[in-house]
Amino acid sequence: MRWPFRLLPLSLPSKVEATRLRPSSFLPRILSRNLQSNASNTESEARLLERLIEPCEDRAAAKNELRWLKEHVQKTAPGDLEAQHAMLNSLVDERSTGKPLQYILGTEYFGDLELECRPGVLIPRQETAASVSHLVHLLSLAPKLRRHLRVLDLCTGSGCIPLLFQHEFTKARPEIQLRLLGVDISPEAVQLARDNRSRLLEAAHLQLPNCDEDQENSDPSDIEYNTPRRSLEVLKTTEFIQADVLAEDPLLQDPAGPKSDIPSLEAALRLQSTVRLGKGRHRTSTFHKDRPKCWPVLICNPPYISPDEFVRTTSRSVREFEPKTALIPPVNSQGQHIDQADTFYPRLLELANTHRTMVVLFEVADMAQALRVAQMAKSYRKPWDETHATNKTLRDSIRSGDLWDSIEIWRDQPGQARENGVPEVIDGFQVAGRGNGRSVVCWKYAARRWFGDEHPISAQIAKIKSQVT
Ligand SMILES: C[S@@+](CC[C@H](N)C(=O)[O-])C[C@H]1O[C@@H](n2cnc3c(N)ncnc32)[C@H](O)[C@@H]1O
Repeated sequence: MRWPFRLLPLSLPSKVEATRLRPSSFLPRILSRNLQSNASNTESEARLLERLIEPCEDRAAAKNELRWLKEHVQKTAPGDLEAQHAMLNSLVDERSTGKPLQYILGTEYFGDLELECRPGVLIPRQETAASVSHLVHLLSLAPKLRRHLRVLDLCTGSGCIPLLFQHEFTKARPEIQLRLLGVDISPEAVQLARDNRSRLLEAAHLQLPNCDEDQENSDPSDIEYNTPRRSLEVLKTTEFIQADVLAEDPLLQDPAGPKSDIPSLEAALRLQSTVRLGKGRHRTSTFHKDRPKCWPVLICNPPYISPDEFVRTTSRSVREFEPKTALIPPVNSQGQHIDQADTFYPRLLELANTHRTMVVLFEVADMAQALRVAQMAKSYRKPWDETHATNKTLRDSIRSGDLWDSIEIWRDQPGQARENGVPEVIDGFQVAGRGNGRSVVCWKYAARRWFGDEHPISAQIAKIKSQVT
């Protein structure tokens, strides 16, 4: 079993080297040219390298890390060799305790984006980026998408998923106006996601051609959009908020009100807030009336490791340095007999129903969990529909959106065809790509129309792809 949390990108030199050295939208990591190469330097470098081998797990990965650390100190103290030397030593000390390199350097690549990382918030993984990019690619092929598309990312962490979605989708379909919302229970995560958004917003401002700046605040519907202007506009409306995805809506459950200070998702979306009108007087008011309730795209990379697997299968650097609440879900309190690792998924399916979602992408740990989640999705039916179920055929239930129309499992590289070219099906579910089972993707019947007609989505996508090539 291979968790992305166990396989830190840094232990995969070839793939990650390519990723880390890819041009980024900000903070490019450039190899420095003024490395000293005399004998004593070589000796001290050899010593540094030795100290990095244990946390990196092999020599090649340790060499890459040493190079990145050197680039970092050269950028931080340009021209001051003594300071660079002292800093490099201290960073290698830190890294030799097992602290992930991303927390030391402060950034990690996610697709083409270089995002800020901080202790207390999960480091984004390339496997997650690959699933998100593939979903973006498929959606960008859909000729009949509405002009407005809303994407809800639950358990957003550093905000990496909505920010990458924006970055890639806007490039492909600048005519479509995205609305993105990221939600996390952790205040540190929400703050980091907001900071990452701000930095991308700054970068988007810099990319805006001068002639466009005057029109920046014009009515979006009046203007023919190009990618930089659309990015700017989408990032401006992108929000990151704190909410507990697992908490039931207190209005439905408990007339006495919420038990925790952290709102449920429903409450956060309603955004009811107490406004002080003066001493002793207050009233409830709704802010951001435009925060919508209907989210056609729902993405979530939830905590999905059981406590037992956390101990058995994760690396020391994950166990000791990454936040446990990002990795291990709480025990399911709904009395359902499901694995602790799966706690989030029934709730996510419920939220997809209440938010009238057309497509969901849920990350999972491996093929076994993918099959459990796909099975949950298959048997999920709108609760209110139970009484009518006997009157509806299966076909009617799918067409009316009471049941999912198509449920797929994606592997780590979902866009890559299998070596033998034969489509893969496990337990009746279509499986796409190569690598480990990584995500479950479910489509509603109505999403078929995004791709042109009423034919199954997979057939329509295959047809569109064959026309493009
Ligand atoms: C596996 S991490 C994913 C982070 C990010 N989406 C990514 O892919 O890197 C799970 C995230 O879920 C958040 N989380 C845990 N329990 C939550 C809850 N009950 N409600 C909302 N977010 C939660 C954690 O704070 C963490 O940021």
